[in-house]
Amino acid sequence: MTDLSSDYDGEYPIVVEGLRNSFGDHVIHEDLSLKVRKGEVLGVVGGSGTGKSVLMRSIIGLQQPTAGEITVLDHKMGESTEEDSIDLRSRWGVLFQGGALFSTLTVGENVEVPLRQFYPELSDMLRSEIARFKVRLSGLAEEAAFKYPSELSGGMKKRAGLARALALDPELLFLDEPTAGLDPIGAAAFDALTRELKETLGLTVFLITHDLDTLYAICDRVAVLADKKVIAVGTIPELLALDHPWIQEYFNGPRGRAALAAKDDPAIAPEHDTAPQAERPLAPQGSGMDTSRTGA
Ligand SMILES: Nc1ncnc2c1ncn2[C@@H]1O[C@H](COP(=O)(O)OP(=O)(O)OP(=O)(O)O)[C@@H](O)[C@H]1O
Ligand SMILES: [Mg+2]
Repeated sequence: MTDLSSDYDGEYPIVVEGLRNSFGDHVIHEDLSLKVRKGEVLGVVGGSGTGKSVLMRSIIGLQQPTAGEITVLDHKMGESTEEDSIDLRSRWGVLFQGGALFSTLTVGENVEVPLRQFYPELSDMLRSEIARFKVRLSGLAEEAAFKYPSELSGGMKKRAGLARALALDPELLFLDEPTAGLDPIGAAAFDALTRELKETLGLTVFLITHDLDTLYAICDRVAVLADKKVIAVGTIPELLALDHPWIQEYFNGPRGRAALAAKDDPAIAPEHDTAPQAERPLAPQGSGMDTSRTGA
């Protein structure tokens, strides 16, 4: 891996070294290394099927690598005691690609699932109060806690998934394509929310995305997956200085240029607004009213 910005001497809550993942003969990752800095939003990009989701699943222990070492919050994955790994799982929150809400549970009950699992001693009242707080924190009205996923728009489902990911006050937040399928206003609002939560809660965010606007708007650095490894990690200007064809095509292609223009134009740049989460209106899904996002 080429770490393009090496002027950092802080902590690394996630360290991946020499990772190999394969499914049968199909090698997904080979000698992949990556270090995530404490308190950053790290964007992870790469073509479809390059193994972004598999990388995330490896980091959180859902995918057993065939080689390599992964250290999360100073714990070596795969070597922890049962107690350690339970403790570790309570220190991160995950929004999976596709949401993965339980359809037979209300939003509030979905958020209560990890609370029940990790803090069974909590009273029903306290548990539901915490769940409702997380729902509000994710920018949904409190009433949304009583709705079923089928009653929510796509953007609301993402926020509900985020509320569940935040249930345990995590230190690390993993987001897999959080803005995929959202209309431009909804996607920009979700970006602003992610950035705001990171700043107020001191989170480190591992953010897989295809969305160039998201990369420009909220990521501190970006890791590029190609050729089975992380070929480079750095700020967007640092990446642009490389002459790797995929990186150039991605950031300097028409969509990349439009995202950059949108970022630099104050009239259309996604806002980092500071309105209280619960009062922020949700974007109407599929309204097509906005021209500020370039899509990806
Ligand atoms: N459980 C599995 N069994 C077999 N192959 C798998 C499994 N999970 C993922 N793969 C394969 O691993 C490769 C990487 O998949 P992954 O889901 O990580 O891609 P991705 O980079 O997240 O793509 P996308 O941008 O489309 O989400 C793909 O070829 C996929 O088919
Ligand atoms: Mg994926």
